[in-house]
Amino acid sequence: MLILGFQGSPRKKGNTNYLLSVFMEAAEALGAQTRIIEAAQKHIVPCLGCGFCEKKGICITKDDDMTLEIYPLLREAEVVVLATPIYFYNVPAQLKALIDRSQTLWSRKYKLKLTDPARHYRRGFLLAQGATKGKNLFEGVELTAKYFFDAVGAEYHGSLSYRHIEAVGDMEKHSAIHTDVKNSVDRLISPLLDRKKILFACRENACRSQMAAAFAQYLAGDKIEAVCAGSEPAEKINSDMVKVMAEKGIDMGFRKTRFLDKAVSELQPDMIITMGCGEACPFIPGMQRLDWNLPDPAGKPLDVMRNVRDEIEKKVKALVKSTLG
Ligand SMILES: Cc1cc2nc3c(=O)[nH]c(=O)nc-3n(C[C@H](O)[C@H](O)[C@H](O)COP(=O)(O)O)c2cc1C
Repeated sequence: MLILGFQGSPRKKGNTNYLLSVFMEAAEALGAQTRIIEAAQKHIVPCLGCGFCEKKGICITKDDDMTLEIYPLLREAEVVVLATPIYFYNVPAQLKALIDRSQTLWSRKYKLKLTDPARHYRRGFLLAQGATKGKNLFEGVELTAKYFFDAVGAEYHGSLSYRHIEAVGDMEKHSAIHTDVKNSVDRLISPLLDRKKILFACRENACRSQMAAAFAQYLAGDKIEAVCAGSEPAEKINSDMVKVMAEKGIDMGFRKTRFLDKAVSELQPDMIITMGCGEACPFIPGMQRLDWNLPDPAGKPLDVMRNVRDEIEKKVKALVKSTLG
C-alpha cells in the first residue's frame, strides 16, 4: 500500500518536513510503503486555465513533473497526505501549483464522468502548522485540502494542525506530536492493512491483469488490496483496454505497468491470479495460485477486448463473493 505525502514548504528541513517525516515513519512501522514529493523541488507549470483537460482528460502541459510523475502516483496511492505550512492562510505557491493542476483529475471525474477505481476507499489526510494562534488559522487550508482530496479521488479523513510553530525546530519541540501522529496513523491506515492481498499477473501487464486489478479495486478495494504486474511489462498500458474500460465508466488514466518481482516483494500477496499466457505466465512456488485462462485481446478488434473485459468482470465478481463471503 502506497502512502503519498506532499511536503509543501520550500524550507527543506523546516517544521512541515519534520511533521510529515514523523507521520511517514509511523506509517512505515505499520508496514506501508511511503513516498514523499517535495513540491518546491518539482518542475510544475501552474494551471493555464485553458480547459484542455475538460475535453481531453489530460493536461496540455505534457512534459513537466505533474504529468510525468505526480498524476501516476496520485492514481497508485491509497492514502494521500497533504503537509503544509500556513502562508497567508493558505498553502505556499509551489504546493498551490500542484493542487491547481489536479484540475485534470477533477475534469476526468466531473466532466468526463469517469470513476477512478480507488475513489471509494482512497483516504486523504491534512497536516498543517503555522506561526500565529488565531482561531481561523487553518480554515483556508482545510477548505483547499478538502477540495483537492475530492478532485484526486480521496475521502477526507481528518487533520492534525499546530499553532504557534514558527522557527525551524519548533515542531520537534512540540510535546504531543508523536502521540498525535501515532493515533492518527493507526486510525487512518490500519483498516487498509487488514485487506486480503491479491496480485493479478500476466506477461505484459498491459490489458487483462490491469482490468482485473481495476475491477477488484472498484468492486471491493476496501476489502481486497489488488495489485497487478507482469513478468515482462510493456512500456505502456494498452490504449484499446483504456477505451473499453471507459465505456464502463472506469478510469484507467495514468496507470502504469510494473515488474512482477517488485510487486511480489512489496505486496507479499496472499494469492496470485494469472490470466492465461501459457508458458509465459509467471509461477511463484509456494503461493496460492489460480489461472483464469483468458485469451489475449491485444491487437484484436475492440469487440474481442470488450468480451474479455466482461469475462474478467464476471470472474472478479465471483472472486469477491467467494473471498469475502
Ligand atoms: C510567506 C510566508 C507567509 C506566512 N504566512 C503565515 C500566516 O498567514 N499565518 C501564520 O500563522 N504563519 C504564517 N507564516 C509562518 C509559517 O507558517 C511558519 O513559520 C511555519 O512554521 C513554517 O513552516 P516550515 O518550517 O515548514 O516552512 C508565513 C511564513 C511565510 C514565509
